[in-house]
Amino acid sequence: MILSIESSCDDSSIAITEILTLKLLFYKKISQNEEHSKYGGVVPELASRLHVEALPKLLQDAEKYFKNLKAIAVTNAPGLTVSLLEGVAMAKSISIALNIPLIAVNHLKGHIYSLFIEKEATFPFLALLISGGHSQLVEVNGWNNFKVVLSTLDDSLGESFDKVAKMLGLSYPGGAIIENLAINGDEYKYNFPVPLLYSNQTAFSFSGLKNSVRLTIEKEIEINDEVRQNISASFQRVATEHIILQIKRYLNLKENKNRYKFLGVVGGVSANLYIRNKLLDLLNKYKMDLIAPELKFCSDNGAMIGRFGIELYRTNEFINLQDLKVMSRANL
Ligand code: KG4
Ligand code: ZN
Repeated sequence: MILSIESSCDDSSIAITEILTLKLLFYKKISQNEEHSKYGGVVPELASRLHVEALPKLLQDAEKYFKNLKAIAVTNAPGLTVSLLEGVAMAKSISIALNIPLIAVNHLKGHIYSLFIEKEATFPFLALLISGGHSQLVEVNGWNNFKVVLSTLDDSLGESFDKVAKMLGLSYPGGAIIENLAINGDEYKYNFPVPLLYSNQTAFSFSGLKNSVRLTIEKEIEINDEVRQNISASFQRVATEHIILQIKRYLNLKENKNRYKFLGVVGGVSANLYIRNKLLDLLNKYKMDLIAPELKFCSDNGAMIGRFGIELYRTNEFINLQDLKVMSRANL
């Protein structure tokens, strides 16, 4: 079995996965949403202190599996340094105590492998990674063969959801709150401009849209529930139209015709059912399938870290205690 630890931002999570069968034997997560909510975003120092409380608690619950452990996989990049350090420090201690090797997992690869929790991966495919920290379209041509073909010029999609929520006086994280408010809103009430509609750039960009939402909110005399619903629905529609337009531009390139049979959507924002449905409509036109993780594995979790950790275990990609470092920035 492999023990996996995730602490890159504001979720502490641990999983135990059986290496041969990929079966998830144990999975737990403690989120810090409530604690950060009053500050309107993640406070790194607070996140770090909360990991120190949560991680040992989670570990205790998994104690009965310790005798069967063959390796420990831990997220070491990218993320908040002070958060990553807590998971990595714990992984190193267990590695010494149980005399088992360490595996360093890139958080973004973990997200992509959330598609294959309890199952084998098949290639090639396209991955749309939409989270609080990232917005990327990735060609995945092999188990460790990732090529980013579309990324954001400015903010990430998750961050934009959170910012819009904050501007509307809603709590953090705002993604799911905006999605729920949008259900009862008029998505054509506000005509926010679709980013990069009139440029032929193939990229994501959300800062202009965020700014349009801000200007609209400033103009409204009263921000009541109806306004919140309409702004949420209009923002979500335009942000989604933008993503769909950009993926379409990529798929329409001659070299990409019929190249991929499916697209996997991952990351916290992939829990959004409105976005999933619009992706489905788009992919239908290209005779492609959509795959997505179970809702509980869209946001940060230890199970996806264990799943990619097993790929690294299979190829003996272990790392020495002294070489295992954390990095706030890292690419796929
Ligand atoms: O993947 P994740 O847990 O953390 C990062 O690696 O960044 O993603 C968190 C992000 C937050 O911005 C949150 O607001 C967003 O995912 N999110 C959503 C939804 N659920 C979470 N955004 C839109 N709709 C949702 N239902
Ligand atoms: Zn994440």
